[in-house]
Amino acid sequence: MAPMDSDTLVAKKGEWLLPCSYHFYERPPVIVSGSGTKLRDSEGREYTDFFAGVSVMSCGHCNPAIIEPVIEQIRTLQHTTSIYLTEPVVRLAERLAGFLPGTLSKSFFCNSGSEAVEGAMLLARVATGRPGFIALEGSLHGRTWLTAAATGIPMWRTDPFLDGAPVRFARDAGDVLRILAERGDETAALLVEPIQGNAGVRPLPAGFFDEVLPALRKAGALLVADEVQTGFARTGRNFAIERWGVAPDILAGAKALGNGFPIGFFSTTAEIAARFTRPSASTLGGNPVSATAALAVLDFIEKEGLAARAETLGALLRGRLAEIAASFGGGESAPLGTPRGLGLMLGLPVRGTADIPAPRMTDLILEGMKDLGWLIGKNGLDRDVLAFQPPLIITKEEIDAMTRDLARVVTAVSQGVSVS
Ligand SMILES: Cc1ncc(COP(=O)(O)O)c(C=O)c1O
Repeated sequence: MAPMDSDTLVAKKGEWLLPCSYHFYERPPVIVSGSGTKLRDSEGREYTDFFAGVSVMSCGHCNPAIIEPVIEQIRTLQHTTSIYLTEPVVRLAERLAGFLPGTLSKSFFCNSGSEAVEGAMLLARVATGRPGFIALEGSLHGRTWLTAAATGIPMWRTDPFLDGAPVRFARDAGDVLRILAERGDETAALLVEPIQGNAGVRPLPAGFFDEVLPALRKAGALLVADEVQTGFARTGRNFAIERWGVAPDILAGAKALGNGFPIGFFSTTAEIAARFTRPSASTLGGNPVSATAALAVLDFIEKEGLAARAETLGALLRGRLAEIAASFGGGESAPLGTPRGLGLMLGLPVRGTADIPAPRMTDLILEGMKDLGWLIGKNGLDRDVLAFQPPLIITKEEIDAMTRDLARVVTAVSQGVSVS
């Protein structure tokens, strides 16, 4: 069957999908295949992927080291549900324990990031017997009711009835301490993303946990790390929270663990796990296919040393982005701000020009880069931060070539001309 062209597909999408499903680009390419860092569209154009499906395809597209064992597993056994014993999920839980920070060792598997964080919040409530949460402004934790209620980005708080949820938002560490002092005995947990991806790649401040962690312990509240976007070597460590030198009580993850296969999980210590004994089941969670994919992902990350690679290449990319930003001049009137993030999770704020507002300029840069064969992402509270979260197998040459074109595109966009 011949692939549909972009205009037909956009029209059909409008007809059959809910209007809440948006896509990037005015004329989006129809992506039909992928291999490694490359994606190809229905018109035969090739793109280098610098967004990895939002931090998912860390091991690259259609990686044989991952899809071959999965294909074999699909041929052998696809699904039984967790009430029947299968080996991959148990092997995965054991293997994951070796990846997790601190003494986190016991896991529950589900299918998405939202489900993982929702499960982590449920566990925190069960373990503490308390209903409340503290979340940070700028956070995104998912689209289930409780995770959306704990999401601090207005555009992602879609449900009009979230305000009754027992979640309080803190602006900074001082605010967390204040809420704990007032409501510590009602608080099950503090939820953090070590780097807020959707808020525009904003890492927590360096000393964030210095007073927060002792205050949480004193209040008997738990620390939940949402590593859905930051997990699995992206930031130069297995998990980004390791950079802050703290181990959470519960960690939720998803995305990169499956490298494109749906999987989510939350993990905790043996002591906290012991309090979660009532039955809980996810029909597809940890099924043999996604568990096999995840095992192959963990093998690949380790064998290829992807954490070290993310650290080295992330430093290179960050340096290049800083050079580009500086080349347009510093100060408040510069069109680009300072790159931020860790490893290969980097954001570059766009400030816009006198004539082009920042969100519009961000879209124009995305569009111009796409036309030159580069897929980069965007996020931020005002959708004005360029996001660079490529597969961790990206090469130095690809970073060099992408940043050369980025400089050209930003120049052209600032001058209101198109790049050819
Ligand atoms: C930090 C974080 N938590 C949770 C989620 C929700 O994950 P999912 O879309 O898999 O439900 C996301 C999604 O982008 C995320 O970035």
